[in-house]
Amino acid sequence: MSFDTRTRYSGLAMVLHWLIAVLVIVQWQIAVAAEGAPTREAGGVIMANHFALGVVIFAVVAVRLVWRQMSPPPPPVTGHAPWERTFARLVHFAFYAFLLVMPLAGWIALSTFGEPISVWGLFQLPALPVPQNPALGEVIFELHGASGIALLVLIVLHALAALKHTILDKDGTLFRMLPFGTPRS
Ligand code: HEM
Ligand code: HEM
Repeated sequence: MSFDTRTRYSGLAMVLHWLIAVLVIVQWQIAVAAEGAPTREAGGVIMANHFALGVVIFAVVAVRLVWRQMSPPPPPVTGHAPWERTFARLVHFAFYAFLLVMPLAGWIALSTFGEPISVWGLFQLPALPVPQNPALGEVIFELHGASGIALLVLIVLHALAALKHTILDKDGTLFRMLPFGTPRS
């Protein structure tokens, strides 16, 4: 019988977690900036960055999931109630699902306009062989925008939960994802 005594995520898991968090916030702010652009053309130029960054986020999340198989998370904090563990696991699963499905849906929607995704001119993802149907593309983008709002709600919940555990319960939850401080097992 061996016991898993790890109390923190691996260094690479931490780097990927905070990188993804920053990229997702930037991605949201790009969409907000595009919506507030003075003209359609200006909005389109800003949105091209959103499309490209979406491809990057998809790739980083894929790397995170492969690394997660190779280096699984540490065992859960023992002081957390079973419902808290289940809820946290559901939210984490939802993050990965959103961050893979949202860019894929964006790619499919853009493909209904026959448009490829240019990743800052470095390379291109061609339009997928889907029927040309901009009306359907608009619907997918609407759902994508609504998912974006749902994702933001989950992020706020997730961050508040981490802070509540760390500051009010003093159980060191946040330090599981940081290279300093004292996580408790
Ligand atoms: C866009 C923002 C964020 C996303 C998408 C995100 C996503 C995730 C995911 C998917 C996990 C599970 C890791 C795994 O098991 O593979 C996780 C864990 C964690 N996140 Fe975030 N996160 C975000 C922002 C934040 C913020 C702002 C904080 C702190 C205030 C935070 C603190 C934590 C902590 C402490 C854990 C470890 C939980 C545990 O002990 O199991 N995250 N995050
Ligand atoms: C993980 C990657 C992505 C995330 C987290 C994300 C997130 C978001 C968010 C938060 C919004 C704004 C919602 C609002 O304020 O109404 C949005 C809008 C939008 N995104 Fe993304 N996005 C991603 C990838 C993509 C990709 C790859 C494409 C296209 C190829 C795309 C196309 C769009 C479009 C066209 C809108 C405007 C939708 C509307 O009509 O409301 N996104 N996205």
